[in-house]
Amino acid sequence: MSDAYRPLQGKVALITGGSRGLGAATARHLARWGTRVVITYRRQAEAAQQVVDSCSELTPGARAIQLDLVEEESVRDAFRALDEDRLDFLIANAAATALKPLLGLKLHQIDKTFAISVRHFILMAQLAFPLLDTTGGRIVAVSGADTVGYIPSHGLLAAAKASMETLVRYLAAELGPTGVTAVGVLPGYIDTDSIQMMTGPLYDILKQAEIETHPLREAATPEQAAEAVALMCLPEARWLNGQIVHNDGGGLYAMQGRFFQAAAEAKGATAGDDSPIIGL
Ligand SMILES: NC(=O)c1ccc[n+]([C@@H]2O[C@H](COP(=O)([O-])OP(=O)(O)OC[C@H]3O[C@@H](n4cnc5c(N)ncnc54)[C@H](OP(=O)(O)O)[C@@H]3O)[C@@H](O)[C@H]2O)c1
Repeated sequence: MSDAYRPLQGKVALITGGSRGLGAATARHLARWGTRVVITYRRQAEAAQQVVDSCSELTPGARAIQLDLVEEESVRDAFRALDEDRLDFLIANAAATALKPLLGLKLHQIDKTFAISVRHFILMAQLAFPLLDTTGGRIVAVSGADTVGYIPSHGLLAAAKASMETLVRYLAAELGPTGVTAVGVLPGYIDTDSIQMMTGPLYDILKQAEIETHPLREAATPEQAAEAVALMCLPEARWLNGQIVHNDGGGLYAMQGRFFQAAAEAKGATAGDDSPIIGL
């Protein structure tokens, strides 16, 4: 077990969607900082167990429970399965949707997407609240880049995540007087297996474009994106109550310039002081 920097020693976190990607990286980061983590998974029990094993080496007592956020009873069962009589952090990370233009969506896809990120986010907040520590308990919700800019086929998820952001602000106001706080994180591109699956044959091209145009000249790994989620759990983040913190490395603000620069370079221009896109 690491005996280095452990600012969250003795804390307990429930992290949804902890079997892969950002959720798994967040679980490992929090465990490294001394938090006992309970992760949820939907189908991939084996992947979840591997995350549990790596977290337990960092802070003993990690475990995984099954949760399908589409189903109300599954949410209730997951909270019944929690032995914990106290939680410090609820990290609402899991998401799923149908990626389609709005006119092609089926109504059940809308219902399921909103069940995960809105209906059952509220239910989880209700079920978690009695367990949350009133001297630092925190709800952390993971939003996404599609709420601040157009991403093809992301309209439905963007609407659900934008609602989730609003819920974070309301939770911050409603729960703040009790000592429990709520914050959101908004990552940009994260290089996860979900992204690879979603982008299919375009994956390599899009990842390369991210690396070449992002201000940090990198495509964020789940571990890098998880750093800010872990920061949101520190006591010092209390005054971020109600904020949606962009942990995109500056990539989203720069998006228009990145696009123009890439388009100009594709036409043979070179970026620099004499670039035609600078304009002066
Ligand atoms: N990847 C990105 O570029 C990116 C960018 C911005 C924001 N985000 C957000 O960051 C979060 C994590 O994204 P990610 O790409 O790491 O992973 P993800 O593919 O969005 O989610 C994977 C995790 O969610 C679980 N999950 C899937 N459907 C579920 C359901 N119906 N109920 C409960 N759990 C379910 C999966 O369980 P199983 O393993 O068992 O299937 C897995 O643990 C999401 O909220 C996503 O919207 C991602």
